[in-house]
Amino acid sequence: MSAGTAVPKVPVHIAIIMDGNGRWAKRRALPRTLGHREGAETLKRITRYCKDIGVQYLTVYAFSTENWRRSRDEVTGIIQLLRYYIGTFDTDPERGSIRFRFVGNLEALDAGLRADFAAITEKTRGNRDAITLTIAFNYGGRDEILRAAKKAAELAARGELDPGALDETVFSGMLDMGGIPDPDLLIRSGSERRISNFLLWELAYAELWFTDVLWPDFKGGDIDLAIADYQKRQRRFGAVVEEGE
Ligand code: IPE
Ligand code: IPE
Ligand code: MG
Repeated sequence: MSAGTAVPKVPVHIAIIMDGNGRWAKRRALPRTLGHREGAETLKRITRYCKDIGVQYLTVYAFSTENWRRSRDEVTGIIQLLRYYIGTFDTDPERGSIRFRFVGNLEALDAGLRADFAAITEKTRGNRDAITLTIAFNYGGRDEILRAAKKAAELAARGELDPGALDETVFSGMLDMGGIPDPDLLIRSGSERRISNFLLWELAYAELWFTDVLWPDFKGGDIDLAIADYQKRQRRFGAVVEEGE
């Protein structure tokens, strides 16, 4: 797409900060983990919805590098839920329609969890006509950039990379999100108007959309609202665009 053209009907890549699970549970006097369970159901629904309307890539923030600051019960609950949902995927009617990917500092995770991530990635790799669902887990935008920088420095130290040849394209390829087009639209549920260390490099020119709806209450109709607003935007990528162009 050239600078200044009207945006296509449906964004190619949507990124979502799935926020508000804890508040959803609190309002119902339920444990926070039940909010996360509802949030996982929402993710399944929204993935199917995005696939049906023709979104090619969906990237969701499931657990940040800062979320370890929560109670051990909550962290364990989130990890157990994710493993449960991955485990049910084989019998899931959606199993052929999603290609899974995981990004974040995965090396720091428990071996069992990493094995689950690797298995489902492998199993769904060949799914044709599928939506690519990237789950960001133990993910931080700064951490992603730092790990890529370390990779580049190591290659340079071994004489396998000419520092002068390191440009945005080469560096992007070293990031976890390398090979995937940058998000066109970022959605954040749950009222906050911040990025919270998500996709710092990749969101450079994304259109931003915030909603007060808490993630467990988020519906396909909220995706429609975000896309309708996105379609009114004019993406300029830094260029000057004359009226009527
Ligand atoms: C988002 O919901 C999920 C994670 C961060 C894992 P929260 O758990 O942050 O929900 P709130 O913000 O406390 O409502
Ligand atoms: C961002 O939400 C992380 C995820 C949704 C996984 P947080 O709830 O952790 O963000 P802050 O702390 O409100 O910025
Ligand atoms: Mg939150």
